[in-house]
Amino acid sequence: MGETAEYYVQKGTEYSKKGFDSEARGDFMEAAQLYTETMRHLSLALQLEISDSKKDILQKVLATHKSRVKELISRSFQPRTTEDKKGGTIERHAELTAASEKIERGTHEETGGNDRENTFQQTWVKPNVPWSAVVGLTAAKAALREAIVIPIKYPQLFNAKRRPWSRVLLYGPPGTGKTQLACAVATETDSVVYSLSSSDLLSRWYGESEKSIKRLFQEASSHPSSVLFFDEIDALCRSRNESEDEATRRIKTELLRQMDGLNARSEKSGRVIVLAATNRPWELDDAFLRRFQKRLYVPMPEVEVRKSIVEQNLEGYHDMTPEELKDISTVTKGYSGSDLSNLCNDAMMEPLREIYSARWWVIDGIESKGKLVYRPWKGPGSKLGLVEAKMEDIPTDQLAPPRQVTAKDVMNSIKRCKPSVNASEMDRYEEFTLKYGESGA
Ligand SMILES: Nc1ncnc2c1ncn2[C@@H]1O[C@H](COP(=O)(O)OP(=O)(O)OP(=O)(O)O)[C@@H](O)[C@H]1O
Ligand SMILES: [Mg+2]
Repeated sequence: MGETAEYYVQKGTEYSKKGFDSEARGDFMEAAQLYTETMRHLSLALQLEISDSKKDILQKVLATHKSRVKELISRSFQPRTTEDKKGGTIERHAELTAASEKIERGTHEETGGNDRENTFQQTWVKPNVPWSAVVGLTAAKAALREAIVIPIKYPQLFNAKRRPWSRVLLYGPPGTGKTQLACAVATETDSVVYSLSSSDLLSRWYGESEKSIKRLFQEASSHPSSVLFFDEIDALCRSRNESEDEATRRIKTELLRQMDGLNARSEKSGRVIVLAATNRPWELDDAFLRRFQKRLYVPMPEVEVRKSIVEQNLEGYHDMTPEELKDISTVTKGYSGSDLSNLCNDAMMEPLREIYSARWWVIDGIESKGKLVYRPWKGPGSKLGLVEAKMEDIPTDQLAPPRQVTAKDVMNSIKRCKPSVNASEMDRYEEFTLKYGESGA
């Protein structure tokens, strides 16, 4: 124990490289297992990492691995094509390697240089996250719709008196869906969305300080409508303190000025919305807090929401009864959305683990060309009529698809995957909400 975040990132990278090789060989199941190991290690790194920008990168790499694992699992038992063998691996592998190198270096050089003189276009995003992908958080979704989506789609409904919100803050514990909500906003609007990691901005713009902020807002207002999404805003807008240097102070002052200017834009300039997220709202400077007209609390999921998140993550892959799902949602009190998603991923691997480790196989049926299809035999009982073989000895088209995930699989995974959010911090969020915010649940 006592390992560092770097250690887990390095381990995760090793597994990813192995997964990449397995995928290149066409061994999708092995690749899925190795990528799950990558995710497990990166999740551990995430818990230890303190730098916001590095956490941000880890989250992104985790998300891409997660979707790849899902894809691999569903492909595992389909006939392979050349495209399958390649599909997406190389890109993602390159992404992880680049990201982990970046984490190791602790810098963001690759984006420095040219963009200083040019534009912020490289921070534009067009994610594909429908509102339905964000479970629960009904009030936060409604407020964001009202603040951002509707005014952009139906500008005629608003005027000088009835002005939509232009500065919204999302705050809450890690892994509760703040970034996901911002992605849903970006998906839903036709506006240009800039995704800005605050610590990244600080380090990258250091030295030219406030000018970049000014340029960013100017560029944003050249579009008919745009959203500036500052993730992990606490890095940028922490309370002023003695040790703060001049450059940071100037950036903050400029940001405050630009935020004030949002209301007083001329007819010609487009509408700019500032959306920000943080999991440490109490560290924000009062001056910034006051400028957010909506401060929405994105809380830990309640039992019903936990149930829906588990259902959504395992949709099509499980055969649990509503009662079993209810039991799972009850025992996962204290798990964030992100913890639940990792938990489900782990449970999804259980049926695969059974296949890798099987030594005895039973006939499951006959495939379309008349060949026998086998599934792992778990015992107990007589081995009469069973086939003794390793998974590698059975042709892919004769392997039955993995069985569905059961409640027992999930319960086993619960023993391995623990919640990442510290329960003692919950009071701080509640207290902050009473004083400054409103619930987005
Ligand atoms: N309400 C939710 N509905 C569905 N999935 C969720 C929800 N909350 C979290 N998740 C899952 O957790 C992952 C991480 O969520 P997200 O990045 O939005 O958290 P966050 O609140 O921004 O965390 P942080 O404060 O650490 O940045 C998502 O990719 C998603 O899989
Ligand atoms: Mg986030």
